[in-house]
Amino acid sequence: PLQAKMLKAKEISDEEKLYRYNGVLYSTLLSPEEHLKCLEKMQAREDDIMLVAYPKCGFNWMVGVMRKIIAAATGVKSESKIPPLMEFYGPENLKKVDEAPSPRFLGTHLHPNNIPASFYEKKTKILVVFRNPKDTMVSFYHFSNSNPALPSAKSWDTFYSQFMSGEVAWGSYFDHALGWEKKMDDPNVMVVTYEEMKQDLSESIRKVSSFYGFSLTDAQVQQIADASTFKAMKESSASSHGNMGNVFFRKGEVGDWKNHFTPEQSREMDEVFNKRLAGTKIGAKLNY
Ligand code: A3P
Repeated sequence: PLQAKMLKAKEISDEEKLYRYNGVLYSTLLSPEEHLKCLEKMQAREDDIMLVAYPKCGFNWMVGVMRKIIAAATGVKSESKIPPLMEFYGPENLKKVDEAPSPRFLGTHLHPNNIPASFYEKKTKILVVFRNPKDTMVSFYHFSNSNPALPSAKSWDTFYSQFMSGEVAWGSYFDHALGWEKKMDDPNVMVVTYEEMKQDLSESIRKVSSFYGFSLTDAQVQQIADASTFKAMKESSASSHGNMGNVFFRKGEVGDWKNHFTPEQSREMDEVFNKRLAGTKIGAKLNY
């Protein structure tokens, strides 16, 4: 289905690739309005494993880590035997999700306000992956230029302005962060950052496992960490992501923003971050 969307993307103009839903920009092809509307009826379950991230914060990395955790914790020999993350946009996907046995492994880039209310009502555990906004922007810039479903980024300076004003697919980074800020004290919501995963992946694996009530041995944690390095995941990306592998596993580093931001852009981002996120719990978590 992804390939079909990519082919369709070639037929529509950049202007037609985004539209507004509840005030947030979304991709016409990846999350069309009728699919998002239909989510309002979605029934969450208390034991769903729900993964959420602003785009380019390390979502696919966490998907790989989670599948390995689920495999290890449930005694399944190979990650490939674990059902993939289920897409729930659109009536067909929603039907499959409704019929799937628990625990369902679900994920989305939806703005926290657009996540079906049922997830909050059922107190489903939600794992949120976040990343330093500068590296997120760089990753998003390259992604926009290699994903035909999104408007091409044109120049770095143009993309910089669009990202800063939230005029990009899935909306403003800052709005997502502030949306999660309201839930930082909720025991069913846990935020893990890209940077902390880079710094100590084993520790992040332990945190995520205990959040979902999985118990792993030290050897299992180590094995999962070894198999989830950027190099290991990039090498296996052809089987996990087909020809989009190189797009989703680009560079995998902290600090690539230094190769893109001008000193002026960096200063402006610092100012906006301070203005919007200083003193917040999510801001502190981002360790900016
Ligand atoms: P870069 O573009 O900076 O390389 P998402 O999955 O949310 O789209 O995020 C993609 C980003 O996560 C990309 O960042 C990608 O390279 C990085 N990434 C994916 N797997 C990773 C891993 N195992 N270790 C570190 N970074 C990883």
